[in-house]
Amino acid sequence: TRRLVIAVDGPAAAGKGTLARRLAQALDLPYLDTGLLYRATGRRMIDAGLDPQHAPAETFAASVGLEDLSRTDLRVPEVDRAASLVAAQPAVRRVLVDVQRRFAGEHGAVLDGRDIGTVIFPDATVKLFITASARTRAERRWEQLASDPHAPDRAEQIARVEQEIVARDAADSSRSTAPLCMADDAVRIETDTLDADEVLAEALRIVARMT
Ligand code: C5P
Repeated sequence: TRRLVIAVDGPAAAGKGTLARRLAQALDLPYLDTGLLYRATGRRMIDAGLDPQHAPAETFAASVGLEDLSRTDLRVPEVDRAASLVAAQPAVRRVLVDVQRRFAGEHGAVLDGRDIGTVIFPDATVKLFITASARTRAERRWEQLASDPHAPDRAEQIARVEQEIVARDAADSSRSTAPLCMADDAVRIETDTLDADEVLAEALRIVARMT
């Protein structure tokens, strides 16, 4: 049987992680959330009191191991920003390419990120591009933050999350190295009107068609 590599790319908070994890489970493949590599790099720099934009971030990236990815302090707003800043540096991306390629090994994998189908695995068996409107993504992210649905300033909170998401997408899409963009041969799934089960079902249909 052929080695299966499934690339799941898209903007922040589009549901890539949820889909990729469930897809990996359904297909019995290892799963790697590649954003965690950039998050762990940014986290280590913050911990060392360094500016993620200037210090030699690639030194920190080189020392990130898979064990760093289970840290529980990687999904906080300051690390969102730090990850995006280190991810714009070509030297950092160069260091992390091999980790990602090795992860798929001989048996294949599902990987989610921004450049999996364009740069890391241009020959991936299946490339999915997961999107939703900025508003939908902000609402979902806000709900994940265990926010109070009855908060009187709910609308303002969601608007703030949306601003942060839009700023990070703009940074990720406009950088010169491995910008966020859909591969020519990727299949787009718009998730605005789909729940997680429907997104998984659609992805499995696409995988079945292409393998
Ligand atoms: O996916 P996640 O939001 O965890 O990614 C955090 C940041 O890491 C992104 O905003 C992006 O700048 C960077 N990233 C990347 N390439 C990837 C995965 C993440 O540049 N493959």
